[in-house]
Amino acid sequence: MREFTTHEYDVLVIGAGGAGLRAAIEAAGSGVTCGLICKSLLGKAHTVMAEGGMAAALGNVDDRDSWSTHFADTMRGGQYLNNWRMAELHAKEAPARVNELEAWGAVMDRTKDGKILQRNFGGHKYARLAHVGDRTGLEMIRTLQDHGIHQGIKVHMEVTVVELLMEGGRVVGAFAYEREHGRFIVFKAKSIVMATGGIGRAFKITSNSWEYTGDGQSLAYEAGADLIDMEFIQFHPTGMVWPPSVRGILVTEGVRGEGGILTNSEGRRFMFDDIPDAYTSSTSDNEEEGWRYVTGDKSARRPPELLTRDHVARCIVREVKEGRGSPHGGVFLDIAWIKEHIKDSETHIKKKLPSMYHQFKELAGIDITKEPMEIGPTTHYVMGGIRVDAETQMSTVPGLFAAGECAAGLHGANRLGGNSLSDLVVFGKRAGEYATKYAKENAAGQINNDQVQKIAAWAEAPFDRGDKAENPFTIQSDLQVMMQDKVGIVREEKELNEALAELEKYKARAEHASADVNRDYNPGWHTALDLKNLLTVSEATAKSALLRKESRGAHTRLDHPDKSEEEAKVNNVVRKGPDGSMQIERIAIPTIREDLAQIIEENK
Ligand code: FUM
Repeated sequence: MREFTTHEYDVLVIGAGGAGLRAAIEAAGSGVTCGLICKSLLGKAHTVMAEGGMAAALGNVDDRDSWSTHFADTMRGGQYLNNWRMAELHAKEAPARVNELEAWGAVMDRTKDGKILQRNFGGHKYARLAHVGDRTGLEMIRTLQDHGIHQGIKVHMEVTVVELLMEGGRVVGAFAYEREHGRFIVFKAKSIVMATGGIGRAFKITSNSWEYTGDGQSLAYEAGADLIDMEFIQFHPTGMVWPPSVRGILVTEGVRGEGGILTNSEGRRFMFDDIPDAYTSSTSDNEEEGWRYVTGDKSARRPPELLTRDHVARCIVREVKEGRGSPHGGVFLDIAWIKEHIKDSETHIKKKLPSMYHQFKELAGIDITKEPMEIGPTTHYVMGGIRVDAETQMSTVPGLFAAGECAAGLHGANRLGGNSLSDLVVFGKRAGEYATKYAKENAAGQINNDQVQKIAAWAEAPFDRGDKAENPFTIQSDLQVMMQDKVGIVREEKELNEALAELEKYKARAEHASADVNRDYNPGWHTALDLKNLLTVSEATAKSALLRKESRGAHTRLDHPDKSEEEAKVNNVVRKGPDGSMQIERIAIPTIREDLAQIIEENK
């Protein structure tokens, strides 16, 4: 019998980024007991990588903005695969959530008349992103943390959940280990909110740090939940490409929001070459107009650098492939050029983009006020994830809720920048509210000791792998290279089939992933355990990508370059079948409500 300690809560929140913190605040503030688990230290979350701002139709900078325009932009950006009810709730509730953060102490940048300042971002019709320089996610986390610690939330830092504990079909707890000494913990809970973020570590080039191994998606899948839209992975157009040690680190879209332009090795603004039909009337075809837009001229159309991320990333890939890339395999992002328009551009850039200035100065020896940056796409976000009910955020498993990046629906085939931070707080609040309601209406379930002992034995297995032992880091890095090559920005049937075959081999190798028999801070052991999650989300992504025979949003198929009317009607859903294999089903997108359809039509 393996030993473990036990904690008991009404609501357990797994993941302590923006969504998890907001859910925990809601639960603890509603009079139930709430535990919050962080895989890392509190405050270290991918939320901070949403640097440029939080989208909400406050209308502070452009009073033409409204929730309905935000809704229409989100649906167009997601190429209409979005859960339209989530997109409606998000657009309507985002302003209240931003104002709430401000009331809780978030220090935002200001307009001249003292309102929250908003900036331009890709795919948003009006300047909509409330921001704090280029550190918006960080300010959100700081604010939620400061507010949260006064609510009586019990925080468990450096704890990794390995399995959800079930009673019948309902979730009743979670089995975890703590990183410091490798001790096991059983959490009993009446309801659980999953808020573990993304799957970026399944790819070689990523803005995600080590924690983002698809834990929430994989744990929910194992518990019987549906995953939806897993083919849609967002490759943010601008990650660092040089030096190699920093490849993938995010360069905020805020750089382009402040007027940054993309050029190729010929010095040409290649984004003018290809403007998608849906955006031709709203995108400028000349430099002068694009600059006027950046400076707030309401009669001007957006510069093409502010098209949606999926499109910008594809254009960059095209330039590199056709031999017009930068020396290290990217293109150039230039904010220094604004000196042609702004007198003291150096001070301006340092004020608007302080983190980017320091990031390039410290890590690449580049002064962005004087020279262009070299950038290229980096795996940033997964639009797919745990399928949830729009109002309550409950998954298809009773008692299991999800919010933030690990949940899915809001963003469809492509997320607009800045919609992630507002997603976190809008749906984090909802998940906390409805998980609390569930906990109040349902008694605690029974923990099954056999399940606990079985998973504890599985977790200890890497200590005793015998002769065929493999290094877990090698398996992980091989997997990342394979996913980047075969399931990356552009895909085709042959490579996706090869990826699925290779994943079977990786699964076999993961069974041999071994670790030194040392339970204290043993990253080899932790990586060996994370592999299962990485493999599950990789398979879900490859299977869904194979099934979607069209190119839409962040999913580009070389063998199916066009959009398909049939594919436009369905979402791909993945679940664990009775025989333990991954099954995939196509579900019809519900017909959109008449009033919302009209809003979309009016905004076309
Ligand atoms: O570019 C950025 O600042 C990222 C924002 C986001 O992913 O929402």
